[in-house]
Amino acid sequence: MNDAFARPASVLVLGATSDIARALLDRLVEDGCTHAVLAARDERRLEEVAAELRAAGPTVSTLAFDATEVGSACSVVDAGFAGGRIDLVVVAVGLLCDQPEDERDPERVARCVAVNFAWPAAALARVADHLARQGSGRAVVLSSVAGVRVRRSNFVYGSAKAGLDAYARTLDQTLAGTGAGITVVRPGFVVSKMTAGRTAPPIATTPEAVARDVVAGLERRSAVIWSPRSLAALFTALRLVPEPLWRRLPF
Ligand SMILES: NC(=O)c1ccc[n+]([C@@H]2O[C@H](COP(=O)([O-])OP(=O)(O)OC[C@H]3O[C@@H](n4cnc5c(N)ncnc54)[C@H](OP(=O)(O)O)[C@@H]3O)[C@@H](O)[C@H]2O)c1
Repeated sequence: MNDAFARPASVLVLGATSDIARALLDRLVEDGCTHAVLAARDERRLEEVAAELRAAGPTVSTLAFDATEVGSACSVVDAGFAGGRIDLVVVAVGLLCDQPEDERDPERVARCVAVNFAWPAAALARVADHLARQGSGRAVVLSSVAGVRVRRSNFVYGSAKAGLDAYARTLDQTLAGTGAGITVVRPGFVVSKMTAGRTAPPIATTPEAVARDVVAGLERRSAVIWSPRSLAALFTALRLVPEPLWRRLPF
């Protein structure tokens, strides 16, 4: 079946060693995905994920990439589509920065922006071309609530995610009428290897819960998926806080 909203048969995952992507892959395979192209940086972990997935049934191929090399995005995406049609593309690559260390260091800022915005945006531009040519298919982009109202305490990462979120939502508009589309996912704090060693807030969620929210959101044909859904109201309200007050808040 080629319905990327409900039960995609083929998937390309950019950042396949992500804990959230891994949980989502399990759901997609349960729901009938039979072919996966997995792309990631850590080749050893990538082969482990591929082996785990093959054991569950689907055919799996792998690709290596490093998102700091922004110029590689097109060739990675082209290689992902080389084996035939892809119903769903998951963009999970991301890097949580070390804010105090990074904010005044141009090289670290550039790396954070490359991994969280420039590489995923360049990849999405190419994905959009492939999906439009297919006349169907969907990309799911892992954005973050951090980009909805950027906070002083993680503004390097938050700014990059804000850029990716805006880019992906607007790229989706350009796909109107093609049969293809882009869905943005905005998780809150997720207990994953990205957040290891950080104190989880009470509203923290898990990769498995995000995967459930993504599948449910795709079934609802949502353009934006919040995870958990309650964050939509909270962050919509935070967007309205006047800047002078926002600057005085302790986060
Ligand atoms: N965890 C959260 O609280 C949270 C909240 C909101 C949004 N998100 C977003 O959700 C997505 C998945 O996050 P996660 O929680 O599953 O974290 P994760 O397990 O750390 O996944 C991040 C992915 O990005 C990859 N990556 C990092 N730097 C890379 C580079 N230079 N080149 C290629 N790949 C690179 C990682 O590869 P390696 O395995 O090689 O490191 C991994 O596949 C990310 O976009 C993240 O920003 C996460």
